[in-house]
Amino acid sequence: MSILVTGIAELTTNDDELGTLTGAAVVIDGDRVAWVGSAAAAPAADERVDVDGRAVLPGWVDSHTHLVFAGDRTAEFAARMAGKPYTAGGIAVTVEATRAATDDELSAGLRRHVAEAVAQGTTYLETKTGYGLTVDDEVRSARLAAEHADEVTFLGAHLVPPGADAQSYVDLVTGEMLDAVAPYVSWADVFCETGAFDESQSRAVLKAAAAKGLGLRVHGNQLGPGPGVRLAVELNAASVDHCTYLTESDVDALANSETVATLLPACDLSTRQPLPDPRALLDAGATVALASNCNPGSSYTSSMAYCVTTAVLQMRMSVAEAIRAATWGGARALRREHEVGILRPGARADLHVLNAPSTTHLAYRPGVPLTWAVWRKGVRAV
Ligand code: NIG
Repeated sequence: MSILVTGIAELTTNDDELGTLTGAAVVIDGDRVAWVGSAAAAPAADERVDVDGRAVLPGWVDSHTHLVFAGDRTAEFAARMAGKPYTAGGIAVTVEATRAATDDELSAGLRRHVAEAVAQGTTYLETKTGYGLTVDDEVRSARLAAEHADEVTFLGAHLVPPGADAQSYVDLVTGEMLDAVAPYVSWADVFCETGAFDESQSRAVLKAAAAKGLGLRVHGNQLGPGPGVRLAVELNAASVDHCTYLTESDVDALANSETVATLLPACDLSTRQPLPDPRALLDAGATVALASNCNPGSSYTSSMAYCVTTAVLQMRMSVAEAIRAATWGGARALRREHEVGILRPGARADLHVLNAPSTTHLAYRPGVPLTWAVWRKGVRAV
């Protein structure tokens, strides 16, 4: 079954040769893009959808979420807005609620949050474990996550559970827990931060995961300067996420690496941290991604458009840079940039149609829901 999507006023492809097209069309065949070009030259297809002068871009690639959770942290958020600082310790509140939830309750939450993201144009989504922190609870989180997300990350090293000895817990995460979770995940992550895991503990977690064949990601430099970025680059992690506090040498290290700097501006706003500086990264030649970090503690939003808008209005990214970071950049952070976050023949048919003639409207009309249609793997989802 093929579909001709035509009447595209502005088509962002993220492909170096195709660039951004006007008066364009796309042909979807099954779950793939079959053709991209000028509407005047478009081939026939089984079905035709005229988007009537709207902008089309690749679906958002949300490369950082924590959606396997139960419970609510509204009170913690309200206290923060009244001046209380965010600390890693809040994670324990969600761990307790998550352990107490049934599989059905966790699955319902996953389903609801993924649907919420898709309704806003997200077509490819990573999510993490990290609110279980026992072997059984982490395996359960990974198993359920794999039923709902495109990519799953093991984050047993999210917090040393209250009452546990740090070294014994690292031994568990790098041993029995890793062995049990590995069949359900393709990535491993560590929260390398004061109050979570220090540099040598983080290195041990990442090296064990790499030896098991998992790709690496790091939560680093979120609440202050630290070793997270350096470690991520040293171990060739696909991404280091947060990057709120970077030194010049962190920026240089990222610019000379394959590691993507994933910025999570919704989190920085929700935790009253400064916003990160994408200009320093981009100007140095680093690859930048934008992601939602949707989780109940530090960033309870699934809106990638909000992240893009914030990046443009408050972080000095151009609209084109922010859109690329939230699509191709996210895909690169998952090492999937040849398949998603890009619209060219052979790529996954993940299309996001805006109810606007250009992507500039994402920043020009902040807060306005602009998603008009979504195709995910060639299937109309919105
Ligand atoms: O990415 N930084 C660590 N993990 C999450 C927050 C988790 C929480 O507070 O529940 C984050 O911000």
